[in-house]
Amino acid sequence: MYNLIVFASGNGSTLQAIIDSINNNCLKAQINLVVSDNPKAYALQRAKNSNIPTYIIQSKNFIDRDLELENVLSKYDIDLIVLAGYLKMIGPKLIEKYRIINTHPSLLPKYGGKGMHGMNVHKAVIAAKESKSGATIHFVNQEYDKGTIISQTIVDVFPSDTAESLSQKVQSAEKVQLIDVLNRFTNNLI
Ligand code: GAR
Repeated sequence: MYNLIVFASGNGSTLQAIIDSINNNCLKAQINLVVSDNPKAYALQRAKNSNIPTYIIQSKNFIDRDLELENVLSKYDIDLIVLAGYLKMIGPKLIEKYRIINTHPSLLPKYGGKGMHGMNVHKAVIAAKESKSGATIHFVNQEYDKGTIISQTIVDVFPSDTAESLSQKVQSAEKVQLIDVLNRFTNNLI
């Protein structure tokens, strides 16, 4: 079985899409652990609802967090770590040891980097009157949103769109794209 670990900081609708795809036999994988830096993340409840173990990060700084996670994750079988709305930077020990991907709600390299996450991205895209946006899945390296791009999906942005409506469109496209990419991983195509 293909072993996933999912990191999430917030609502966890992306985590839910992975769980649903596994349950519907659309993805041959299992999630061995859901990790969060935010004890209040609804993603943790979603994991519990599906009997997936959870772990809440204790360390407050970058280096300690990297060591803590290295220790915790060493107890699990891991083929791939998926950052699904996880907002902290990943440290060098994890990057060296694991394959890690991130899903980001813009057409990187546009609207990436520190502070650019979730609604901040969509507000910036609307403010700049872009006609296209989308979602990017990329490998994680030591710079925010700069790792090798695996896949991008484009969505149209209409003058009538708001940050909220754009967020919904991008998130729908992003989930389809993520499951497609995960299937490519489980089939050893990536
Ligand atoms: C997703 O749209 C994801 O791309 C974005 O946060 C959302 C998480 O939603 N990630 C980032 O912005 C990372 N820079 P969710 O909590 O409902 O899964």
